[in-house]
Amino acid sequence: MTDRELIDAAREAARHSYSPYSNFAVGAALRFADGRVVTGTNIENASYGLALCAETVAVAKAMADGVRGGLEAVAVTGPGADAITPCGRCRQVLNELAQLGGTDPEILCVGPDEVRKLRLSELLPHAFGPASLA
Ligand code: THU
Repeated sequence: MTDRELIDAAREAARHSYSPYSNFAVGAALRFADGRVVTGTNIENASYGLALCAETVAVAKAMADGVRGGLEAVAVTGPGADAITPCGRCRQVLNELAQLGGTDPEILCVGPDEVRKLRLSELLPHAFGPASLA
């Protein structure tokens, strides 16, 4: 799957966003080395602080399906005027999955007019991860 198709998959996932409180629908799509793509979208709650981000939902779906390694690329889409970057918690959650497979995935931060490509290590330098516990 191309980067463009991965972005389309993230946008498609955002159509299922449950975000009645923020009205901010986010989509995420993870691409793995074996070609698998897993998507997620944000899921909010009447108890506002319990919102689940799109990236975290995608990682949870992947891990629940037994996908553990080879995370190559992540597309994130949002409705804002600027390219969306993953929140701090999602960076940490993505890092766990990435480190399991020893990859430094490209994060495609999608905005209305641009796609910012950043490595996860740029978004989360000096990360604490599974290797830190060894
Ligand atoms: N959100 C995400 O899904 N991912 C991010 O990286 C940033 C924020 C969601 C959480 C909440 O449902 C909405 O966007 C507004 O913050």
